[in-house]
Amino acid sequence: MAFPNRFLDDLRARVGLADVIQRHVKLTRRGREHIGLCPFHKEKTPSFTVNEEKGFYHCFGCGAHGDVISFAMSTENLSFPEAVERLAEQAGLEVPSASPEEREREKKRASLFDVTEAACAWYEAQLRPPAGKVAMEYLTRRGLEAKAIAEFRLGYAPQQSRGQTSQLAAALRSSGCSEEMLLEAGLLVKPEDGREAYERFRNRVIFPIADRRGRIIAFGGRILGDGEPKYLNSSDTPLFHKGRVLYNLSRAAESARKSGELIVTEGYMDVIALARGGFPGAVAPLGTAVTEDQIREMWRLVDEPVMCFDGDTAGQRAAWRAAERALALLQPGKSLNVAFMPAGEDPDTLLAGQGAAAMRSILAAARPLVEVVWEMELGVRPVDTPERRADLETRIERRVRQIADRTVQQHYRYILRERAQQAFSGGRRDRRPTRSAKRPGRPSSTLPGAGAARRGGGLAAASVANRRRPQQILLAALVNHPALIDEFGEAFAGLEFDPDLDKFRQELHHIGASMPDLDAGALHRHLSESEFASVLDGLLETDVLRHGGFARSDASLQDAREGVEHTLALIHQRRREEEIRADARSAAAEGTKESEARFLEHQKDMVRQGEQTAELDDEWRAAGAADIES
Ligand code: UTP
Ligand code: MN
Repeated sequence: MAFPNRFLDDLRARVGLADVIQRHVKLTRRGREHIGLCPFHKEKTPSFTVNEEKGFYHCFGCGAHGDVISFAMSTENLSFPEAVERLAEQAGLEVPSASPEEREREKKRASLFDVTEAACAWYEAQLRPPAGKVAMEYLTRRGLEAKAIAEFRLGYAPQQSRGQTSQLAAALRSSGCSEEMLLEAGLLVKPEDGREAYERFRNRVIFPIADRRGRIIAFGGRILGDGEPKYLNSSDTPLFHKGRVLYNLSRAAESARKSGELIVTEGYMDVIALARGGFPGAVAPLGTAVTEDQIREMWRLVDEPVMCFDGDTAGQRAAWRAAERALALLQPGKSLNVAFMPAGEDPDTLLAGQGAAAMRSILAAARPLVEVVWEMELGVRPVDTPERRADLETRIERRVRQIADRTVQQHYRYILRERAQQAFSGGRRDRRPTRSAKRPGRPSSTLPGAGAARRGGGLAAASVANRRRPQQILLAALVNHPALIDEFGEAFAGLEFDPDLDKFRQELHHIGASMPDLDAGALHRHLSESEFASVLDGLLETDVLRHGGFARSDASLQDAREGVEHTLALIHQRRREEEIRADARSAAAEGTKESEARFLEHQKDMVRQGEQTAELDDEWRAAGAADIES
């Protein structure tokens, strides 16, 4: 419903912005403004400001910005008209009456909600035997117990044979729903040739779809067993626009807002499996790639939703599509993270097969969007000629320009260019012998990060080669000692491998699972005939193996195992060091007395951590490089 602008201005003037916000946020006065902890992102020091005079709030931390109406919309999960009505009521303002057509449309919408609700209840009831016996068995076979079925209001649409009158229509007629309304709600379909209307959902398990407030607006139906189409959704109706709705949003919202975690998966069953597995903050688009509206909807709840994709190539492409879609919309603080499932798994099968811990570790390994964008552009082509380098830079620039927000755009440009530079020089450095730098007993660290920290807190990040080498060595160890694949599969899944190496890791994992008894020779042959041949060559380069002697095929299994463990410890230690550095950097950037103290504390910690890293690093090198000098 459209409201006259005069009325909206009046409303904004009449309701106190600070009053409304104060119900959610503790505000303190500072000059002309109020400040407090931002309700839209997690923070410890206040960066949320309210300017009553100008009538808006702004968060310097996450960029959240708006007026009293948008505040009510986001904090209370209301649509625009709903927020306006609620605020008007609080302010004692009368909402101007709508035009007769508008009122008519509203009334129709309101009664459509009654239709979908009645249909939902009817479908639920059909799950009972005898009609629903087979459907119920199907759900049980898929691991769903009564509690989940009730919570998600799953139902069953019985078979309707040709010419048979609709049981649904008959049942709903008694609650006052006409055939016309059932058609409008997308539950009945009227054939063009004038024959009788028939039911859209027949012999399917029903997944009711709710709006943000939990009102049923549409349905998804899954075929029992095999057949096409596997899933059928309601067509768009006055209540339902499939590109704007996320399955399970109303239930996921509260937990997502509290925990800051929103998981986005592909299917209904995944959402339900996640909720059952202890991940209540999960939603799914409805059979399409995620839309801009859906991304905005997610951002109303959390800053960085995690999107799960299948680890196969189709999943990869889907991730790229989502990244493309999101780029234009990015805002300071608002992004997406991307988690890849093992190839061929979805959250439903993963949870059933490997449990919540496995899911958790996959979510923990989710990568920021910028990584996905980098991967998209770098591809698998080497960047070893001037033309290819120029091409990469051009593509990066084109990509970066899709980002509308200038600040975010700048940071993407900066990070991706830096990555490109590292990729250009990284390949060469990898091949340069480091012999001269090595002395027996005290091998010099090739980790600039560790060296700098040892001297007391340089902020340089480890270079690409230093990040990559341990990853390569880990994978080389598995390739040469396939018996370790199974043993370390999970530990590896929790690490951040470079994109190409991560694909290789997944492939290894996959092979290890399907052919557990494979020996190194057969594994080599298999890989060298696959798309992974060049990655494999990279792993088995003498320069990689000279840094990780334990990864060589002639090392004993026990040495290989210990070497891998050591390397894992080193990687974790480096990550810990990075985290502390990042913390210290942000403390330094704040520049208050309190943050200065925190910074000094961090600095001490950094030196300590740096020392530990260096120690591990030395040990690692000593173990791995034992016979290099000989
Ligand atoms: P999938 O084919 O991956 O199915 O579709 P799934 O979710 O794993 O389903 P189960 O586990 O076999 O029951 C993912 C999602 O894509 C949409 C549905 O929303 C589904 O949940 N979809 C799929 C359709 O809309 N139509 C289809 O024919 C298939
Ligand atoms: Mn599935």
